[in-house]
Parts: sequence; structure tokens; C-alpha cells
Amino acid sequence: MSEIYYDPYDYAIDADPHPVWRRLRDEAPLYRNERHDFWALSRFEDVLAASLDHATYSSARGTVLELIRLENRPEVSIIFMDPPEHDRLRALVSRAFSPRRIAELEPSIREIVRSTLDPLVGSRGFDYVADFGAKVPMLVISTMLGVPREDREQIREWTDQLLHRDPGEVDPDARILELGGKMMGYFSRYVAERRRSPRDDMMTDLLQAELETDDGGKRRLSDPEVLAFIMLLSGAGNETVARLLGWAGSVLAQHPAERAKLVARPGLIPSAVEELLRYEAPSPVQARSVTRDATWHGERVPEGSVLLLLTGSAGRDDRQYPDPDRFDVERDVGRHLSFGFGTHFCLGASLARLEGRVALEEALARFPTWEVEWDAAERVHTSTVRGWAKLPIRV
Ligand code: HEM
Repeated sequence: MSEIYYDPYDYAIDADPHPVWRRLRDEAPLYRNERHDFWALSRFEDVLAASLDHATYSSARGTVLELIRLENRPEVSIIFMDPPEHDRLRALVSRAFSPRRIAELEPSIREIVRSTLDPLVGSRGFDYVADFGAKVPMLVISTMLGVPREDREQIREWTDQLLHRDPGEVDPDARILELGGKMMGYFSRYVAERRRSPRDDMMTDLLQAELETDDGGKRRLSDPEVLAFIMLLSGAGNETVARLLGWAGSVLAQHPAERAKLVARPGLIPSAVEELLRYEAPSPVQARSVTRDATWHGERVPEGSVLLLLTGSAGRDDRQYPDPDRFDVERDVGRHLSFGFGTHFCLGASLARLEGRVALEEALARFPTWEVEWDAAERVHTSTVRGWAKLPIRV
């Protein structure tokens, strides 16, 4: 038997991590990587238990392997906080994600999805990610925040420019920074405007909500705090949903019989979204720093270590799911960890589920079959999300 090796930076492993994750679950359920100095848990039950124990497995130094190594604390957002600060801020921002606010979004999401897909009807093919999956989420977030319709075109254009790569362009950083600056500028003006004239929308909810302070008093969020939250939403909400839709494009093409079931019985789409999340987790690795010595499978993980929770591996654990490598849109997935679990359970989960359902309903109604041009498909390479950057298809 060859030695097992896993790290989230290796492009070859990232292309198909499932065989190595299986070996980790079976042979090294507590895995140690000396080269990048981390530990990893890969079984469903272990990832779940560690996700629930935020006192031992902290997010406060960041939840991305390379960020934890930085001396400076990353930007302060709920995803990088521990209770009690986390819970106070989360309770506040959760108001903007109430079931009422999310359900209200369905007609606008459908309109966004339709207006993205309609121009593609009649073409011989398109890029399932660049032309569709990556465009929808930013527009949804701006709608959710109440950005006026006439400004959404501008947001769409900036998003297009953010996603665009010139052939051979190696370092798009400066351009992306400039665009990021423009978007921040727009949102700062927008926040100021909403403070002056409140409305019945999520942004107003956020601006008016009150946060409990340490001395038992109350205060509202400052403009920089609201802007940081908007940036967290675009960071956490865009890349992940774009990856989910990209996985729908590739996995359904590889399983035409399952795809045909969804076309014939669109009522299966919500369970197909859960199955896709289980089968190919868009955000498969969450890092934690260990605050006190812990023991896993008889081995000590010392205080100060970095522990990776391989949520993507948990979704394929045969201790939890029968025949886990089979993609089955009728599977009753039950619990999965692809939105995390416990304290940091994805705040946008119901929004992501709604976006996934509406996007697939509208896409399958227009394009019931397609083939992927695999030679031209390209993966995203980051240590936080996994999936397709480009997925050209023929329809
Ligand atoms: C398919 C799409 C998505 C996936 C797979 C996903 C996945 C995740 C995961 C795994 C976590 C937990 C991270 C951790 O434990 O360290 C998380 C947290 C979070 N997600 Fe999502 N997410 C998705 C969509 C969204 C959307 C659409 C939004 C908002 C617009 C969003 C906002 C957040 C926020 C704010 C947190 C932090 C929650 C906290 O720390 O309390 N996500 N997400």
C-alpha cells in the first residue's frame, strides 16, 4: 500500500480528491500532514463532533489554512469569530435572513435566472458557469440588499469584469482590487442613502437592528460594520453558489438518467440540490485552530494545531450514506455537512437552496440535455471552494 498523502493545495488531488479522502477515512481517520503542518478529520461523525465543539476548535484565527498562519487577525466577520461575540452579531444579521425575507426573494430570483438564461436560448452552447452559474448569485445578493433595479446592470457589469480573464492574464489582482474599490464605493453611498431614507428591506433591517454591548447597553451597527457584512455576503454567497451550479452542470451531464428524472419530475429538484451538495461539496474544507489538547483515534492533537474538517469527505462516508459514490437524485440525504454544522452553520443555507432550486428549474426547462466540452473546462483553484471556473457545454 502506498503512503497516503493529502493537502488542499495540490491541483492533481483537487481534481478528484474522493479516492484519497476514502483512504483517509478508512486508514487514517486522524491524518497528519507534516509539510503544511495540519491535522485533518474526514469521517462524517468526527467532522460533525468537531463542528459542534467551537470551544476546542476555534474560528477566531480564521477558517482558511493559509489565513491562520498570518500574524494579523483576518478581517472581523462572523465566520471568523467565536461565541459570545459571534452569537451576538449573528443574531443581529440573521434578521436580514428571516424566512419571510428569503421567501419574498423567490420572484426576483426567478426573474434574474430567466433574464440570464433567455439570451442563451437558441445558441449552440454556452459556459454553464461563466454565462450562468457565476452571474446569478451577485445579482441575487444585490436584489436582496435592495439595490435599485437601474443599478443592478452596473453590478452585473462589474461582476462580469471581475469574472473575466484575458487569455494569458496571470495576475488580475490590480484590476480586481480596483473593481472591488468601485463596488465598495457604490455600497458605501448606498448604505448612507438607506440610513437617510429607511424602507421595508433587508438593508434597513440591518441598519436598524440593535446589538447588545458588553456593558448591557445597545448600539446599532456602524457603516464599516455593515459594509464588512455586505462583503462577507458577496464573498460567502457568490463563489459557493457559482460552484454549486457548476457542479450541477457537470454532474448532471455525467448522469443523464438522473437528469432526465429531474426534467420529467421537477418536484425532485430540491432533493437533487441536497444530493449535489453531498456529492460534490462546493466548500469542502473548513479549518479550525485547536485551543486545548485533544485526542482523536488514540492520538493527541496538541493545543495550537490547525485541524481541517473535511466536510467534502464527510458527504462520501459509507458509515453515514449507503453506496455514497452513487449520485441519486431520489436519495433521502437527511443530514449533510456541506453547509457546516453548529455555531457557524451557513447563514445563507436557505437562500442557497432557493437559488439552487430556481436556477435548476429554469435551466432544465430550457436546456433538458447538454454535453460538456471537457477539454475546455477549467477548475477554480482556491483552498476554500472546489469546482468549475469554466464549463463550456453544447446544447
Ligand atoms: C451552495 C452554497 C453555499 C455553501 C456550500 C455554503 C457553505 C458554507 C459553510 C460550509 C459554512 C460554514 C463555515 C465554517 O464552519 O467555518 C458557511 C457559513 C456561512 N455562509 Fe454559506 N454557503 C453557501 C451559500 C451561502 C450564501 C448564499 C450566503 C449568503 C448570501 C452564505 C453566507 C454564509 C455566512 C454569512 C456564513 C458564516 C456563518 C457564521 O459564521 O455564523 N453562504 N457556508
